[in-house]
Amino acid sequence: MSPTLRSVVIGVGDFLPEQVVTNDDLAKVIDTSDAWIRERTGIRQRRKAVDGQTTSDLATHAAEKALAQAGKSAADVDLIVVATTTPDLTFPAVATQVQRKLGAPVGIAFDVQAVCSGFVYALAVADNFVVRGQAKCALVIGAETMTRLMDWTDRSTCVLFGDGAGAVVLEPQPGQGTTADRGVLGVALRADGTKQDLLYVDGGPSTTGTTGYLRMQGNQVFRHAVVNIAEAVIAAARSAGVSLGEVDWFIPHQANQRILEGVARRLGIDEARVISTVAEHANTSAASIPLAMAKAIADGRIKPGQLLLMEAMGGGLTWGAAVVRL
Ligand SMILES: CC(C)(COP(=O)(O)OP(=O)(O)OC[C@H]1O[C@@H](n2cnc3c(N)ncnc32)[C@H](O)[C@@H]1OP(=O)(O)O)[C@@H](O)C(=O)NCCC(=O)NCCS
Repeated sequence: MSPTLRSVVIGVGDFLPEQVVTNDDLAKVIDTSDAWIRERTGIRQRRKAVDGQTTSDLATHAAEKALAQAGKSAADVDLIVVATTTPDLTFPAVATQVQRKLGAPVGIAFDVQAVCSGFVYALAVADNFVVRGQAKCALVIGAETMTRLMDWTDRSTCVLFGDGAGAVVLEPQPGQGTTADRGVLGVALRADGTKQDLLYVDGGPSTTGTTGYLRMQGNQVFRHAVVNIAEAVIAAARSAGVSLGEVDWFIPHQANQRILEGVARRLGIDEARVISTVAEHANTSAASIPLAMAKAIADGRIKPGQLLLMEAMGGGLTWGAAVVRL
């Protein structure tokens, strides 16, 4: 193996809006119950941004924490990639708003729109900039205010989602080109636009001129999730040159406890190695993987040097996986 540049995660941060909405809170306003939601999804509660609190606010807080952990300041940041499907405005990108709010200098900043797969896509995009020497300090952020896309009369969707943000800081570091290197070791990204009708938002600037609401055929999404994610995970592991048995922690997109378990079972991954935050956060779309990662680092489960496997699937349909050594 020859020496190579790797994108290494040197800081992780998270931010959750203060307001907690429990299943019982929802049961007061729509025809649902704590028992139904828990049994079908594992979700107990979600966070909800208050009026005036935007995706870029959540993203900026998470980014500040990640930079502090990395020992970097806003002045160091030369690339910001935000994965989001709930931007403050149709344009400009949330990334440029984060840049302004952080006080980061002129650099590269843009959003990636791959819905719940957004963080894996954004990580792969930023990795390409970093390993080509085009960025020395990159912020990759997943940030969402998904509660703003909910039709609060549709009980089959509105109980599933929540708000939050997570961020990582990447920097180039020399590696040996082996699986012992720290950094992003392998990724696999997928999309299939023929499956749009399974999960989409029924509005937008060039159709209705409105934001629209999230629509989903839940059981179809469920079926595709388990089958498709497994293939991408195997492809990402192969591109990294690792076996699934070497993975220390499996960090899935937090959509539904049953999907998490279904994918892990299909891949032969022990439940004890799966990070799950869906009970407390619900589905925060592009924010869910970095939020789960930040929590498991903070509580001491994930340690430096360990091998992490991330995966996600979302609207598009899009899906993908990434293998990262912390
Ligand atoms: C959404 C999901 C939990 C629904 O579970 P399901 O077992 O497929 O349930 P169904 O949609 O078949 O609905 C079953 C019944 O529950 C009812 N129901 C739906 N939402 C409900 C709610 N919040 N509370 C109570 N009952 C509800 C339905 O109306 C239906 O009633 P009926 O049989 O009288 O018609 C499940 O399909 C799922 O998790 N899908 C994946 C969704 C996901 O994670 N998407 C994001 C991917 S990024």
